[in-house]
Amino acid sequence: MTYDIVIRRATVVFEDGVRRADLGIDGDRIAAIHDAGSAPKGKREIAADDLVALPGMIDMHSHHREPGFTHKEDLAHIGRQCAAGGVTVSVAMPNVSPPPTTATDLDAMLDLYRQRSMIDYNVNASAVLIDEIPKLAERGILAYKLFMVVDTGRSYPHMPGIGLHEHGELYERMQSVKATGLPLMVHPHDQSLMDSIEKQYWARGERDFRAYAKAYAHDDGVIWDTAVGVLLRLQEATGVRLHLLHTQTHRVVEMLRAAKAAGRPVSSEVNPWCFWLTNDWANIERLGSYALSYYVAPHHAEAVYAGFLDGTVDIMATDHAPHLREEKELGWTDGWKAHTGTPSTQFYLSLLLTDVAAGKLSYERLADATATRPAKLFGLYPRKGAIRVGADADIVLVDPKKKKTITDAEVLSKCGWSPYAGQKVQGVPVYTFLRGESIYDDGTFAVRDGFGRQAVRA
Ligand code: DOR
Repeated sequence: MTYDIVIRRATVVFEDGVRRADLGIDGDRIAAIHDAGSAPKGKREIAADDLVALPGMIDMHSHHREPGFTHKEDLAHIGRQCAAGGVTVSVAMPNVSPPPTTATDLDAMLDLYRQRSMIDYNVNASAVLIDEIPKLAERGILAYKLFMVVDTGRSYPHMPGIGLHEHGELYERMQSVKATGLPLMVHPHDQSLMDSIEKQYWARGERDFRAYAKAYAHDDGVIWDTAVGVLLRLQEATGVRLHLLHTQTHRVVEMLRAAKAAGRPVSSEVNPWCFWLTNDWANIERLGSYALSYYVAPHHAEAVYAGFLDGTVDIMATDHAPHLREEKELGWTDGWKAHTGTPSTQFYLSLLLTDVAAGKLSYERLADATATRPAKLFGLYPRKGAIRVGADADIVLVDPKKKKTITDAEVLSKCGWSPYAGQKVQGVPVYTFLRGESIYDDGTFAVRDGFGRQAVRA
């Protein structure tokens, strides 16, 4: 017999450990796993002696900007970043225009993705409109999203119409989402507290990027902790499967740990900026709003990292949030006018691998946090999320020894810059396979419009 592809003698990160093996791929699936060097021939052979094979990453939180904000990013640019970055499924957030708050607008968005997405996709539809919630589930979404934040001083990224924070409103959405059985993702934010904190900064004439960073982190992260406290209590009341976004304080990690110990269906993500960017105030001084989202003081980042290692913080998702330079420049003088968020899809695997090389993180936990656990939490497993027989052949091969410095010149995002430029990393993707097709081939792109499929529950 002959396989379509054999990945030979790779160091493979399986669910139960790391070992050398040959992977036989037929069509879109992993057909067999053989002892290293023993697989029958492949029509294509990849000598992977020096490479590590990881499951293709599943990014549950990405701002693709299409439709509506394509001056920042679009599906073609996202596809190339995913291919180069080792991401095989990228799930879009709903702050686009029109936002997927209704089944009609979600259908239009899914149609666009069907025609244009290069990699597998889905959309986290907005749970703002109660009557639409059951209809959205029928479209094969994996989760709903609610923002508790509505921007003050700018119109994006948290525009009116997709955010709500009144407790009763949240409670009713949780009840409706619970009836669908799907998880509800929430961006925690205490808008009432923030209104008060912001006013105090502004009254003192503090409006620059430093003030913005400090206001969001004020009182040791009080806006995050109070929001999560409310969400967890409402979760307990409604029984909804709650997935917390942007984990960034030690109290949130402790609350999660307690909720999980009590057997409650809660999970959470951390984003790359929490570990490699805004946990260092010097980066905020150097980059201003180009570094923000949110400042995470080192004691918080360390607690979140510990929670990430032990699985209390379940997954890493990018929160890829590209904005143009002119939308960031405003932040030097008025942090509230700059659009908040940072791009990261292309580089987060290298940032994670750098921690593996430094002995801080295991390959097993890396694969769990970026592929297996997202697949299990959101229903894609066992079709996706792990290197196992019968699964989609979604695989990324990385060179764990290769070192480089990230540069703006290599950035594939339409925004044209990376807050990680200048950072030294060890470990880079070399090949990315999606359903048995190589979409990134030793540095060459083979992604194409419309190859992506909606990644639905297995
Ligand atoms: O900083 C952020 N940027 N936080 C969000 O919640 C949204 C994101 C964006 O879309 O730019």
